[in-house]
Amino acid sequence: MTEDDPQAAIDAQGEQRQADLDDRIFEHSAGDDQEGIPFVGAGPGDPKLLTVAGRELLADADLVVHAGSLVNSELLEAYCAHAELVNSVGKDLEELIPLMRDAYEDGRSVVRLHSGDPAIYGAALEQMDALEYEGVPTYFVPGVTSAFAASATLRTQLTLNEVANHVAFTRPQGKTLSEDDDHISEFVGMGDVTTCIYLGTHAVRDTMDRLLTDGHDSETPVAVIYHASWPDEDVIVGTIGDIAEKVEDAGYRASALVIIGDAVVGAGYERSYLYGDWATRGSGTDAE
Ligand SMILES: C[S@@+](CC[C@H](N)C(=O)[O-])C[C@H]1O[C@@H](n2cnc3c(N)ncnc32)[C@H](O)[C@@H]1O
Repeated sequence: MTEDDPQAAIDAQGEQRQADLDDRIFEHSAGDDQEGIPFVGAGPGDPKLLTVAGRELLADADLVVHAGSLVNSELLEAYCAHAELVNSVGKDLEELIPLMRDAYEDGRSVVRLHSGDPAIYGAALEQMDALEYEGVPTYFVPGVTSAFAASATLRTQLTLNEVANHVAFTRPQGKTLSEDDDHISEFVGMGDVTTCIYLGTHAVRDTMDRLLTDGHDSETPVAVIYHASWPDEDVIVGTIGDIAEKVEDAGYRASALVIIGDAVVGAGYERSYLYGDWATRGSGTDAE
């Protein structure tokens, strides 16, 4: 690979995975000690929501490349004891990969710190592929994604018996996602899906307008949770019909999670089978 062509590494790593899955998948569990650069989920904001594994790795790190304003600076101050801190925002792969590779090859402990969980809208795998292609091993350390912090704030579940049987993690159309690939209206139309919209704070008005145009019930509950788990967390609750105005009045354009569905208010659900007679009738149930 040439340093200015990470896409070649991404393609090569992807082809190799399709031909033969990585042996490490069967050798390791998330949480095991592993070789290489960990891609750590910082959690949604509150430093206490970082995992113990993440905290230990940060304490040992010499270089932490973090996701800028989405990672709470209090977390960096509290847990990155002696590390050099580099903000990844505004840096491209051509800059980030040599930075992490060279530090790792110089024997420094490197941590790549993503917000929430790196597996959700984190663009982690492309960095990992580019590093692996250059012989630098990498691995994931999961984190609490912001949808989970938002549901905790709302004191609800994302899944609720009879009301919300499924959860969609999604994002609205825009520069990255074409109109055809925006499935928010389909998820809402399914009726029993809790739709969690990332990267959509700036587009609440457009999204709600589209849902109304598509004929969805304007009274469907919607919550917008700004900075879930941060000290300045804010919760706006409304409906498809009125949430856009409320968000505009509050002035939020980024850093919020939009949740659509009846699970927002947590009403109308049926008791589950989990704590009923049904769960104890023999084995082989999906009670977990
Ligand atoms: C690039 S994505 C990263 C998501 C992250 N990997 C996660 O698992 O939460 C950034 C988006 O996540 C959402 N987000 C991240 N942290 C948040 C928080 N504390 N509260 C609400 N939404 C948050 C916002 O929708 C934001 O636009």
